[in-house]
Amino acid sequence: MTGSSLSTVSGYPHTRLRRLRRTPELRALIRETHVRPESLIQPLFVSEELGDDEQQPIAAMPGVARHGIASAVEQARAAKEAGAGGVMLFGIPAHKDDRGSGAWSEDGVVQRAVATIAAEVTGLLVTTDVCLCDYTEHGHCGVVGPGPAAGVDNDATLPLLARTAVSHAAAGADIVFPSDMMDGRVGAIRAALDGAGHTDTVIAAHSAKFASSLYGPFRDAAGSAPAFGDRRGYQLDPANRAEAVREALLDVGEGADIVLVKPALMYLDVIAEVKQETGMPVAAYSVGGEYAMIRHGAAAGALDERATVLESLTAIGRAGADIVITYHAADAATWLQ
Ligand code: PBG
Ligand code: ZN
Repeated sequence: MTGSSLSTVSGYPHTRLRRLRRTPELRALIRETHVRPESLIQPLFVSEELGDDEQQPIAAMPGVARHGIASAVEQARAAKEAGAGGVMLFGIPAHKDDRGSGAWSEDGVVQRAVATIAAEVTGLLVTTDVCLCDYTEHGHCGVVGPGPAAGVDNDATLPLLARTAVSHAAAGADIVFPSDMMDGRVGAIRAALDGAGHTDTVIAAHSAKFASSLYGPFRDAAGSAPAFGDRRGYQLDPANRAEAVREALLDVGEGADIVLVKPALMYLDVIAEVKQETGMPVAAYSVGGEYAMIRHGAAAGALDERATVLESLTAIGRAGADIVITYHAADAATWLQ
């Protein structure tokens, strides 16, 4: 027993941690973690198959929809008004091919949506997902071949990712988020951005992206499930924390401005260690499966949605995340006001 917890003559301890929990004011005074609306980023699905003002609900993610461009602008405006820091755009193209050419097309759906949101909504960061899986027929994050058995060709994918990032920057994206997990893509993207004069475009690398069971709802939303095989040949094994830290350190060396861990809630230890080992701004992506668990749990009457979301965001921040990408961003920002 330490001196401070020795009993008094009356038999009670000197140290009573409950003293500081007694009132809301005392609890606020000593609170260690604060979730700020401006650190939240709202993902948006923009579909080339929908009319400008149309939206289409996503069955696996109740409350989330695919949007036409004007409808996406309205979502961005709502996120801004709620106080969120930014939006992250995912594109759903009308046509897919084996190289994912819709990803870097200058008049692609994401490029047009970025330009429109940047022009119409001020004070909101416009960010993009950089990957090929939403645009490839086979649904993999890189080019495959020759033949499916060859798997994803890392080095042949890098120029296509770089071209995609440059097209997003040219449209006005503030931050690009490469999510493919190819080796060397941060360096390739940084060089291409700089070469095209986009020296101020921020790279937030999905450094520690795990091969997770929690991506099912997203793949339903984006129609990006792999047609054969799975992503374990490029995404991290959920068992590996040290390897996640190595990924983050490599990305920092290649020029990443922000490093990201995904998913969030099941990987709090990884968030904490990546923060400690890199000292970089750390983002965490609370994925579709996390959103779906809370929404369905709340719909079943088992969870209080608001309390559960705010507790999970607090836990992700306490672990060390500075930025959280979450489908609850606009709602949470509103609750935090
Ligand atoms: C792949 C990608 C994934 C997500 C976004 N981009 C994971 C995957 O399908 O392997 C998941 C996001 C989510 O689950 O909310 N580039
Ligand atoms: Zn991908």
